[in-house]
Amino acid sequence: MNALQPCEYGGINMKRTFNRRDFIGTTSLAGAGLAFGLPQITRGAGTAAKPAKLGGVKAHPGGFPGWPVYDQAEEKALLDVLKSGRWFRGSGTAVAEFEKEYAGLTGAKHCVATSCGTSALTTALGALDIGPGDEVIIPPYTFIATYNVVALNYALPVFVDTDPESFQIDANKIEAAITKETKAILPVHIGGSPADLDKILAVANQHKLPVIEDACQAHLAEWRGRKVGTLGLAGCFSFQASKNLNSGEGGAVLTDNPQFAEICYNFHNQGRAKQVTGYDFTYSGSRGSNLRLSEFQGRLLLAQMTRVIEQTNRRTENANYLTRLLNEIPGIKPAKLYDGTTRSAYHLYMFSYDKDRFAGLDKGRFISALGAEGVPASGGYGPMNTEAYVSGLARNSRFLRVYGEKRMQQWLEQNRNCPQNDKVCERAVWFAQNMLLGPRSDMEQIADAIRKIQSHAGALAKA
Ligand SMILES: Cc1ncc(COP(=O)(O)O)c(C=O)c1O
Repeated sequence: MNALQPCEYGGINMKRTFNRRDFIGTTSLAGAGLAFGLPQITRGAGTAAKPAKLGGVKAHPGGFPGWPVYDQAEEKALLDVLKSGRWFRGSGTAVAEFEKEYAGLTGAKHCVATSCGTSALTTALGALDIGPGDEVIIPPYTFIATYNVVALNYALPVFVDTDPESFQIDANKIEAAITKETKAILPVHIGGSPADLDKILAVANQHKLPVIEDACQAHLAEWRGRKVGTLGLAGCFSFQASKNLNSGEGGAVLTDNPQFAEICYNFHNQGRAKQVTGYDFTYSGSRGSNLRLSEFQGRLLLAQMTRVIEQTNRRTENANYLTRLLNEIPGIKPAKLYDGTTRSAYHLYMFSYDKDRFAGLDKGRFISALGAEGVPASGGYGPMNTEAYVSGLARNSRFLRVYGEKRMQQWLEQNRNCPQNDKVCERAVWFAQNMLLGPRSDMEQIADAIRKIQSHAGALAKA
């Protein structure tokens, strides 16, 4: 499934207005994670309290901060573009301004804004001229777009198993998946937490393969102090409505490589070269499409960016506190951050749920009991690598023509060999990023809800 939309939490009030005064002691972006001063843990309702599912009082009665967050700045931004009559990037300056600002914020040398995250990935793969006969390494624990952009080019998506501790691609298993047809490695920073970039970049360098980071969920996440999406050849971002930086739909490719940036620009603009306005084009001779961001989205993103650092800091503080609280609950294991992580974007707060420590209460019922407590949660992705909609590729006549029956059968077998990913899909539970934007007491109430459920898990399993 896609990253969560607040409205996907069926029936639960997610509409509490985000209030700047909810912020207490917000730190600056630089070193905010380190400056987090380990506040005292506070516990609310005791474990004896009855779960809401069994008629008790909700652990979290108030609703979580709503998403998106906007005010008059966004209204003015949109109206300004409207009234200017300059609605597309060929006529206005907002998209180019956004590209400059986003490159500045992330430390990238170049940014090409695109119509969505999928088109950012399409642009990067298009610029690499990935096509039929090529293989691209991807994780199975990701949103379907990571797979689609490879398959759409008639290239073969090769799944590498998931690290069950972090939910990220298992970098130790990448090398075994490389063949002479491998043309790129496409790791995903799932949930906004960095994949193990040290190991991924090392194996990529050794095999002279480009790394395209799918950072669609990872705005402002950092690996050893550098923003993710700036460590590989390119990084791709999404600004879709649920994302931590949002213009409804939108995306961007970051790169430090000027030639690659130019090819990406041309690709996303119908193969037409840069520095032209109006209808006076020169064609680059490369393949291309229209994957441009509009001026409305560019101006909206510039307004949203004035909040992104403060919101990122808030998520970091709350997520760190929540991790401390959840680490104390047997059977709940927050997804591990690798040592090189200096910041997670916490687009998703992900943890592993062990039903054996909850009297066998299955994950669906656990999530339903959490929902009744006023704590909306999701069971996350299914095992894409073995789903029928992926396996069907082995019967696609074009793929059979390019790769042959033997390779496609071998591919199906390979796909079944992601045992750790199966476990992650079984056990993972997610909270959405906006749940980390409220006061610290929200985190305490989330932990209270889980403790309550654990204490009454036997009764809940029978309810
Ligand atoms: C990991 C990942 N990759 C790619 C995408 C695609 O982004 P978009 O929806 O903006 O096309 C998403 C969006 O949810 C995503 O989560």
